[in-house]
Amino acid sequence: MKLDKRVEWHRPDAFALDIKDKQIAVVGGTGGIGRAESRHLASLGANVIVVGQTFRDAGTPRIKFIQADLGLMREAQRVAEELPAETLDMVIFTTGIFAAPQRQETAEGIERDLAVSYLNRLVILRAIAPRLGTQRPNARMKPRVFLVGYPGSGQIGTPDDLNAERSYKAMPAHMNTVAGNEMLVLDAAKRYPHATFFGLNPGLIKTNIRDNFFGKDTLKSRVMETLIGWFTPTADTYAERITPLLFARELERNSGAMFNNKGQAILPSNGLTEQHIRKFMAASESLAARTGIQRAAP
Ligand SMILES: NC(=O)c1ccc[n+]([C@@H]2O[C@H](COP(=O)([O-])OP(=O)(O)OC[C@H]3O[C@@H](n4cnc5c(N)ncnc54)[C@H](OP(=O)(O)O)[C@@H]3O)[C@@H](O)[C@H]2O)c1
Repeated sequence: MKLDKRVEWHRPDAFALDIKDKQIAVVGGTGGIGRAESRHLASLGANVIVVGQTFRDAGTPRIKFIQADLGLMREAQRVAEELPAETLDMVIFTTGIFAAPQRQETAEGIERDLAVSYLNRLVILRAIAPRLGTQRPNARMKPRVFLVGYPGSGQIGTPDDLNAERSYKAMPAHMNTVAGNEMLVLDAAKRYPHATFFGLNPGLIKTNIRDNFFGKDTLKSRVMETLIGWFTPTADTYAERITPLLFARELERNSGAMFNNKGQAILPSNGLTEQHIRKFMAASESLAARTGIQRAAP
């Protein structure tokens, strides 16, 4: 993909798209980066629907909640049906965990990290993308979709063993989710021209994301997150920093672009050829279909 590296979203005139009254869904908006972004957007006047397991912002104006366990594809499908896709201006995907030291499997037979951090995003996106933003009179931008992950890190995944059934190690398993999310951006940018799609790489941020790997509230986990907290921005700082980018006019003609934690454009990972993306997407779709959900239209 040819990337316009001159995305000058920080220019005052580039930041001209209004946030007030925008309709935004944050899938994974109940914790960590997604929660910080949801609260910031709501404070700027957007109406935000957050999807997650535990609602922590009851009573906060302009934030509504859909409860779901997105480790399950049938739940992802239900969320897709409940979201008012036609009137949404923006969808941000931030749901995620880290793969555990031992392989974990959901009740639907999917490796848990893959299910929570990637596969449900594919299922939701396939279901909502065709109707996304189609009923917004006088909209000044195409509906925008942001996938938070770790794009640009050189991961291409293992489509031949996506579910880690033949071999399992936490890091390669997690890298399947990293690669999958990056490919979802590149694939969707071509597949759905009426909307725009972007990858966001927040870098390291102190959140709960590593609990499943280090163990919740363990000494290891506390030491690690404290160290990360010393040297990196908070989720709130990242949210404030990245929000102007989400509404920048220049994004309109750069669907498929990815951005680092400072909002600078980064290049896609080497090795993500069209052929590889097709293979990875096909493997993802047939794995999702194995759970019994209806295969969404391409
Ligand atoms: N933090 C970092 O250092 C870092 C670095 C690179 C990339 N990222 C990416 O940033 C994204 C957000 O991560 P984060 O750091 O904000 O993590 P986080 O603090 O652990 O938040 C994860 C979010 O996912 C939701 N979630 C987890 N399991 C779920 C499930 N089964 N069903 C529904 N929702 C579920 C959580 O909701 P509940 O709390 O309600 O369960 C929460 O809203 C992820 O894609 C991650 O890969 C993070």
